[in-house]
Amino acid sequence: MSEKEVKNLEAIFEARIARDEKIEPKDWMPEKYRQTHIRQISQHAHSEIVGMLPEGNWITRAPSLRRKAALLAKVQDEAGHGLYLYSATETLGISREELFDQLHSGKAKYSSIFNYPSVTWADIGAIGWLVDGAAIINQVALCTTSFGPYARAMVRICKEESFHQRQGYEIMLTLCNGTPEQKAMAQDALNRWWWPSLMMFGPRDADSPHTEQSMKWKLKRKTNDELRQQFVDQTVPQADILGITVPDPDLKFNPETGHYDFGEIDWDEFWQVVKGHGPCNKERMEARVGAWERGSWVREAAMAYAEKQAKKKVAKAS
Ligand SMILES: [Fe+2]
Ligand SMILES: [Fe+2]
Repeated sequence: MSEKEVKNLEAIFEARIARDEKIEPKDWMPEKYRQTHIRQISQHAHSEIVGMLPEGNWITRAPSLRRKAALLAKVQDEAGHGLYLYSATETLGISREELFDQLHSGKAKYSSIFNYPSVTWADIGAIGWLVDGAAIINQVALCTTSFGPYARAMVRICKEESFHQRQGYEIMLTLCNGTPEQKAMAQDALNRWWWPSLMMFGPRDADSPHTEQSMKWKLKRKTNDELRQQFVDQTVPQADILGITVPDPDLKFNPETGHYDFGEIDWDEFWQVVKGHGPCNKERMEARVGAWERGSWVREAAMAYAEKQAKKKVAKAS
């Protein structure tokens, strides 16, 4: 293709995005668009899968049958989210094996929030309330993103995330209306999960190199700092209802802006966890790689069975 032809295709492509048309897997797209989407959607898929680990840790210890059923359903939803998103990524021309390999070798990232431990039952409440709450804010905009398979997956995912957020908040509400010990447990979980939740929106806009291009492709509708502010404004009144305190001495409603002002995030901690030195990075990777290796006999058996069936078909046909 000549340079002029490529320029022409690019112009048509940008115009389609500007008109809010969906880009489908077989449509022409710039290579950078394809690579950015492979990176972002697979990172999202990995986050759903690794995100099952901190909560899976509590399924056997949930305090009642009702809590166990809700948590089990939630963790299964996350597995489903991972699978839709891996499928959406595969439509861009990368195999599931390659995607897993990128995760297992540490080449691909996943949300750093899942590198924190879930040490008490209240953490399950805090994760649903804060982590799924932050995820919804990040993800609602993606329901109208330009790449069709991603946008369609996100519609269903967001519906399920709102159930996750409510089941978490309800756990917190129950604990906060319980004994002083239970309320203290809820406060302790908020203390530990608040800052990592704010980090889920990523680096400050000034330190976020992909933002501009992503906004153009509607892969992002708002910047990291705008989304973070929205999360703070939405979540602080919910903490007030619970009667527990957000662990930030600088947090204050600003009547002039109509938003909450809040303190500085510990960016050293953020980058440490991103680079693989968080409290549970090693444990999470060992769990994922171990599950992949222990599952190899299932994959091999399924392949052998499929080959046997194919041979039978050929034999019948001849
Ligand atoms: Fe999810
Ligand atoms: Fe979720």
